[in-house]
Amino acid sequence: MAKMWAGRTAGAVDPLADDFNSSIRFDCRLYRQDITGSMAHAAMLSAAGILSQQEADQLIAGLGGILQDLDSGALAVDYGCEDIHMFVEQVLTDRLGDVGKKLHTARSRNDQVALDLRLYLREQIDQIRGLICQAIEALLTQAEEHKSVIMPGYTHLQRAQPILYSHHILAYAMMLLRDLSRLADCRKRLNQSPIGCCALAGTTYPTDRQFEARQLGFDGVVRNSLDGVSDRDFCLELMSDLSLVMMHLSRFSEELILWSSWEFQFIELTDAYTTGSSIMPQKKNPDMAELIRGKTGRVYGDLMALLTTLKGLPLAYNKDMQEDKEAVFDAVDTVKMCLQVFAPMVASMKVKAENMKKAAQGGFINATDLADYLVKKGLPFRSAYKLSGQIVAKCIAEGLVLETLPLEDYQSFSPLFGQDLYEHIDLITCVEKRISEGGTSLASVESQIAYVRRALQEQEVTV
Ligand code: ARG
Repeated sequence: MAKMWAGRTAGAVDPLADDFNSSIRFDCRLYRQDITGSMAHAAMLSAAGILSQQEADQLIAGLGGILQDLDSGALAVDYGCEDIHMFVEQVLTDRLGDVGKKLHTARSRNDQVALDLRLYLREQIDQIRGLICQAIEALLTQAEEHKSVIMPGYTHLQRAQPILYSHHILAYAMMLLRDLSRLADCRKRLNQSPIGCCALAGTTYPTDRQFEARQLGFDGVVRNSLDGVSDRDFCLELMSDLSLVMMHLSRFSEELILWSSWEFQFIELTDAYTTGSSIMPQKKNPDMAELIRGKTGRVYGDLMALLTTLKGLPLAYNKDMQEDKEAVFDAVDTVKMCLQVFAPMVASMKVKAENMKKAAQGGFINATDLADYLVKKGLPFRSAYKLSGQIVAKCIAEGLVLETLPLEDYQSFSPLFGQDLYEHIDLITCVEKRISEGGTSLASVESQIAYVRRALQEQEVTV
């Protein structure tokens, strides 16, 4: 097919080079945004007196027909075209004749592609925010259903202090809430219209960029034409935010994998989110959690790829920038897929409260509380810490735990110990005493749940 840009050049492009140059295989997903943008462009051209009302009406009707035909499948994308922008314009011209050739007045593919991408990503952000809300809901369900379950809290993956399972789960809800707000922020910065920047320098036609921006639901226009066609920071910002989402999902997935192992047995993932082994009949593998963890690397890679592509580019548009789309599309697709699996997997997992409690009872997880007991009786913390360490060593030597060591033994270490000690080191007491704001007490967990609920209600997301 003759190139739409044929004129300056007469020779044919080598078929391999042509294929190499083409982006339609991946940018065809922008067809709706491309057509919507072109409709607004036609409307602006006539409002500004650059095209007649009749011409604009014809263009808009023609574009509407193409959209309908692509949606219904009556029109197939021609993968021989260079990109989706060329394809739509070609079909429009085939259908309308010369008036179709007027659509591209006062714009360039450079501002057109920037526009399409912003429109597309704006929608994707809304969808991803909706999916994150569902993931937070799933976490809330877990926290609420198992509010009082005690588990060991870890540092260095060593049992550290007893905590409520719900407290642990809510930590992730807080992280995802921040992801939501980061994405809302990214959307705000992205929602400025680049159309009308044209190839790089603006245009001599009396265009009305504000009109076109309003038509397309933007908050304003990009204020420098070179910036509008050159930067892809909105893609990078989005991919950074998505990398953080994945990092959070991945850390939780790692914990689910650990917790569902025979060694831990804290939770059981339902059959719907596990697989069997082809050779070992006893296996129940947490593949979905592993894949979420694995795909995190992919999203980081997408971010790195585009950062690297852009770092040395002079202004304004360079063809290197065509590489933006596969990276950002892959990141968006991957995050959506992961969130879709994550939420129901988390909502449906079974908690083995007894095992969590048992694990919390071993490992001298209440040793800090033993030290605190002595501090409250007047001993300086460092001395109390040392004494508690010695008591732990004695328990280990005698195969006991702090709860089963007799009072006489305690008193041989310090006369400060009394009968009330046992209540003090009881795991439930240990948890309940952590009433500091944001701590693991039940009251704190309840207020966290209320906070997350309220924050979710305040989100403007369309799911
Ligand atoms: N397919 C191109 C891209 O995705 C569209 C912009 C082409 N602009 C140009 N001057 N060749 O970046």
